Amino acid sequence: MKEVKKAVIPVAGFGTRFLPATKATPKEMMPIVDKPIIQYIVEEAVSSGIDTIIFVTGRHKRAIEDHFDYAPDLEHTLEKAGKIELLELIREVSNLANFVYVRQKEQLGLGHAILTAEHVIGDEPFAVMLGDELIINQEEPGLKQLIDVYKKFGKSVLGTTEVPKEETYKYGIVEGSLIEDSIRLVNYMVEKPAPEEAPSTSAIIGRYVLTPKIFDALKRTPFGKGGELQLTDALMTLRQEEVIYSKDIVGKRHDTGNKIGYIKAIVDFALEREDTSEFMKNLILEKAKKLNEKVQD
Ligand code: UTP
Repeated sequence: MKEVKKAVIPVAGFGTRFLPATKATPKEMMPIVDKPIIQYIVEEAVSSGIDTIIFVTGRHKRAIEDHFDYAPDLEHTLEKAGKIELLELIREVSNLANFVYVRQKEQLGLGHAILTAEHVIGDEPFAVMLGDELIINQEEPGLKQLIDVYKKFGKSVLGTTEVPKEETYKYGIVEGSLIEDSIRLVNYMVEKPAPEEAPSTSAIIGRYVLTPKIFDALKRTPFGKGGELQLTDALMTLRQEEVIYSKDIVGKRHDTGNKIGYIKAIVDFALEREDTSEFMKNLILEKAKKLNEKVQD
């Protein structure tokens, strides 16, 4: 069985929920404290055993390429100033993995973005990671949990979690038969169903391990919701030919693709980090005290 060594990270979307910030800057480059969101995702991939990252990019995404490239001028300046720790920090970023960039010329959907990477993937299983879902689990990285299931069954695996019924319209929803603890055999999938139409509350959360058969399935799948080529629809096509599994991912999850989720992630990370936790705790306590006083007035 071929190993999962490549991960596709589609970053060609417009990021309309973060305009005007995303007018010329990719949403994936927005920082959580001092690290761009995309770096957390790449680090999860690398600690899951991935050695090659394929970014599917679009216009205004140059900042992502620059972030994972060498920065000779900056490195020289840091070296001269004796800022060795910072120098090592930025060098590490460029050495995390092999980076490949393919361009999606038209934003025709997530499925279309993945199809754009076909020539780089070839005939091997690969991961797909969405840039707005952060999954934090130091012991067992989110993607590694899926790769472990792939190693056992040799078929595609979708990362899922339970969501509140009223939120099904935001996700691809999976209905499956539980075969062992937190692993399901997928029967049916649907993209962003209204709560009353959702077949379950098991939602796909931006992590996939796919067999290369998905490319043929994508080519045979008609454009769906929003006039886009939907990965979930192509997975239903694939499902007719080979079994697909889903696995509930264990870890703390942050949906940074919307404003509230992004703010929550920053607060959470700032509370965890040694250099910011004291400040953040005091800030929250102080704000809570003031709010309390206001309520009692
Ligand atoms: P989203 O649905 O989150 O779209 O795409 P978006 O453009 O990034 O953000 P909003 O909704 O406008 O705020 C899910 C993922 O698929 C990628 C996006 O970059 C994002 O990571 N994507 C989507 C592509 O790469 N190409 C597409 O044609 C569509």
